[in-house]
Amino acid sequence: MFRERGVAPSILSADFVRLGAQVDEVMSAGARVIHVDVMDGHFVPPITIGPLIVSALADQVHSAGGVLDVHLMIERPERQVAEFARAGADGITVHVEATPHLHYTLSEIRSAGCSAGASLTPATPAAVLSDVAAETLDLALCMSVNPGWGGQPFIGYSLKKLAIMRDLLPAPVALEVDGGVNHDTAARCVAAGANLLVAGSAVFGSADPAAAYTALAAAAGASS
Ligand code: DX5
Ligand code: ZN
Repeated sequence: MFRERGVAPSILSADFVRLGAQVDEVMSAGARVIHVDVMDGHFVPPITIGPLIVSALADQVHSAGGVLDVHLMIERPERQVAEFARAGADGITVHVEATPHLHYTLSEIRSAGCSAGASLTPATPAAVLSDVAAETLDLALCMSVNPGWGGQPFIGYSLKKLAIMRDLLPAPVALEVDGGVNHDTAARCVAAGANLLVAGSAVFGSADPAAAYTALAAAAGASS
């Protein structure tokens, strides 16, 4: 599912008082990948959510045929892989800047039964993935804003970086883009090679998240 063309709503911008209902809204509109942003107050300044929320959403998302795409913006993510897998994550993506043991971490994610993802902040060159790309990687994430906050403007260079990443990655590896994805940038990200587009404020910042999801998915040429 991570390799299909689609939009992954990020719950970071959702109304947490009615989180289940908000996830329902976008899944009823066709969303199948729900993006969960985990921040630890160290790798990035904000503290957000952890395995408890993943676990609270898991049954709902899985029984609607969806998957949980967990984006770990935390230091030493290898220490938390098992916990998030147990909580119900389907994909776990770690930052290459947050661990000296990327190959090990990706292998642990796969051993835990999840898809293994590696994310790059805007300053990290694509080439850092070349040694793990063929062997241990299921998904590469290109951050198109600096990680930590929703609602930031898209960094234009990311389009060039997405194309470089797509060239470097074997075909089965998914290419996800995260940050500043909206009606203006979605189609350009797809043209540059991204297949999975994370969108937080463009979906949940709207008065009608289902309609916003549908419009964005259409702009991205999503398969569902
Ligand atoms: C930012 C997070 C994103 C965030 C994107 O660090 O990784 O997933 O939700 O928000 P928007 O789509 O508003 O840029
Ligand atoms: Zn994210």
